[in-house]
Amino acid sequence: MRKIIIAIDGYSACGKSSTAKMVAEALGYIYIDSGAMYRAVTLYFHEHHVTLSNEREVEKALEGISIEFKRHDDGLHTYLNGMNVEDEIRKMYVSQNVSEVSALAAVRRQMVGQQQKMGKHKGVVMDGRDIGTVVFPDAELKVFMMAEMSVRAYRRQLELLNKQQMLNLDEIVENLEKRDHIDSTRAESPLTQAEDALILDTTNLTLEEQADIVVGMALERILDDSKKLV
Ligand code: DC
Repeated sequence: MRKIIIAIDGYSACGKSSTAKMVAEALGYIYIDSGAMYRAVTLYFHEHHVTLSNEREVEKALEGISIEFKRHDDGLHTYLNGMNVEDEIRKMYVSQNVSEVSALAAVRRQMVGQQQKMGKHKGVVMDGRDIGTVVFPDAELKVFMMAEMSVRAYRRQLELLNKQQMLNLDEIVENLEKRDHIDSTRAESPLTQAEDALILDTTNLTLEEQADIVVGMALERILDDSKKLV
């Protein structure tokens, strides 16, 4: 069967990553978490005290960064310069700085280039903020996910609790609102819905329902494309 690219964009904590993982599994595709790449850069900049306003310093730091994904029993883990940073990049101090880091043009250039290489052979589900607009504007299926803030905050709280991090809902809402604002108002490829993206409101959906809907859309696209080829 012909392979396609599935781009899943949307606000933080709408269930993009979990849905994308399940869709990739169902279709036998590779899942790429583009947010994890921006988080890994943020961690590196934090550890190396990079001044974000200093372009040369940022460019130089980017030369020292290599990001990979490796398969573990519980899914893909993010590696930064050979170190497994999967847990570290999900911590609050990274979440609090990642939007500023991912707004930098040099950072985006580098990450977008790597992401495009990863999708060269198709058969990829990638989630993020600019996947359907900038990284893969020709993706065969684009989904834009959203959900009510209270639901997003609750889901993020549960996710963090599973990682032994206890945060109250107010703190989470504050972080999500700040990131929504920065992500959607930044000059460099802001979070916007691609014109040809299908909107998926996950407020009242379970994870399984969300994934089923996207798999269904993907199969429709794959079959439509196969018919066109006949
Ligand atoms: O998906 P996430 O919450 O882990 O993403 C972390 C941050 O990375 C998010 O606040 C914005 C940024 N990001 C981005 O700018 N572009 C992407 N394609 C993915 C994430």
